[in-house]
Amino acid sequence: MVDGVPAETIARAVGTPAYVYSAAAVRQRYRALADAFSSLSPLICYALKANPNRAVCAVLAKEGAGAEVVSGGELRRALAAGFRAEQIVFSGVGKTPDELSLAVRAGVLALNVESEAELSALARLARRLGRRAAVSIRVNPGVEAGGHRHLATGHGGAKFGVAPAQALMLCRRARREPALELRGLHCHIGSQILSPRPYAKALGVVLGLVERRGGMGVRYEDEPDTGPIRRRLRPGARKAALDCAALARTVVAALRPWPRLRLVLEPGRYLTAEAGLLLTTVLYRKRVGPSRFIVVDAAMNDLARPALYDAYHPVAPARLSDAAEAVVDVVGPVCETGDVLARARRLPWLGAGEILAVLKTGAYGFSMSSQYNSRLRAPEVLVEGGRWRLIRKRETYEDLVRHER
Ligand code: LLP
Repeated sequence: MVDGVPAETIARAVGTPAYVYSAAAVRQRYRALADAFSSLSPLICYALKANPNRAVCAVLAKEGAGAEVVSGGELRRALAAGFRAEQIVFSGVGKTPDELSLAVRAGVLALNVESEAELSALARLARRLGRRAAVSIRVNPGVEAGGHRHLATGHGGAKFGVAPAQALMLCRRARREPALELRGLHCHIGSQILSPRPYAKALGVVLGLVERRGGMGVRYEDEPDTGPIRRRLRPGARKAALDCAALARTVVAALRPWPRLRLVLEPGRYLTAEAGLLLTTVLYRKRVGPSRFIVVDAAMNDLARPALYDAYHPVAPARLSDAAEAVVDVVGPVCETGDVLARARRLPWLGAGEILAVLKTGAYGFSMSSQYNSRLRAPEVLVEGGRWRLIRKRETYEDLVRHER
């Protein structure tokens, strides 16, 4: 059930694969975070990259959230979804002249500048437009953090931001430049971080300046309540989620000597990952030597995380099954060995036509999906107030060739 609506009802109506999100779950996460940090009244800027669907964004915009964007496309989406420009921050090491200009003209809260060259380009552009560009300087604090090496952004070898000493230099330059308005410091150390410790470390490196942060982890390794399956978790699978109250305590304490600083948080995954699931239908089951496979109609083009990061997502049948359990790989139809959605899971040995849900896929699920193997991108559904509605339709074969000449 997704907020009272049976997953199978949605699967029957829109077909599979299909993403389904709960508006209530997104709201709940937003409010929990806002509550935990309430003594600092932070601006919570939703990182659109996690799930940029306009209807999902609108849920957060209505809650009063701001947005974090990393491209002109995300900026346009954010504005269209109802986020106010003064609550939008724009990050990224490679903003193009068009993107810089779009952001300056829109009047965003801050462009997070990631190099000296970008600061110069932005100052020139702002002068030409006759506008002041609001900037913050992105600091790379040299902190190792994040769930996978591809998810760490704040270590010295990453392409993001500038070293602390250079950040101070850029701050001074920004203050001297009349076309720029220095608004703060930005810092992002990685994604899928489960402990407050790396944040405290990064905060220690950059304090004395305004700071923003993101990357708060969720607990993926948590089987859904499916009776017997629950007791047979993979060893070591249960990892604590980031406790936002503990993080808030750390940050509140660190910021106590700086009462005039305004905190901007920029979580993506934390707000939407657990609010979404991917519905998929079993096509076949097969055995190859000792291995058992459940072949489903969703694949790595729909959900790239397992193939890309070896990411773990719980999988559960949409209805309780009395089929005998087996240890299986859940695989998709794409022609790659890496097209495995779930590896070595104990699941009922389901037959064709049964529906499975791949859980905690509301962040970096649809947003990273592609048409690889000329597959149509899945539809998205939002459940709100006990009702479901299509918020993006399934692509068609015409969509596949639309732009070809
Ligand atoms: N702010 C900045 C500057 C970022 O680079 C990111 C994520 C965020 C905020 C939001 O991070 P979050 O709260 O969602 O962890 N595709 C990967 C995640 C890549 C995240 C990149 N940056 C995945 O599927 O796990």
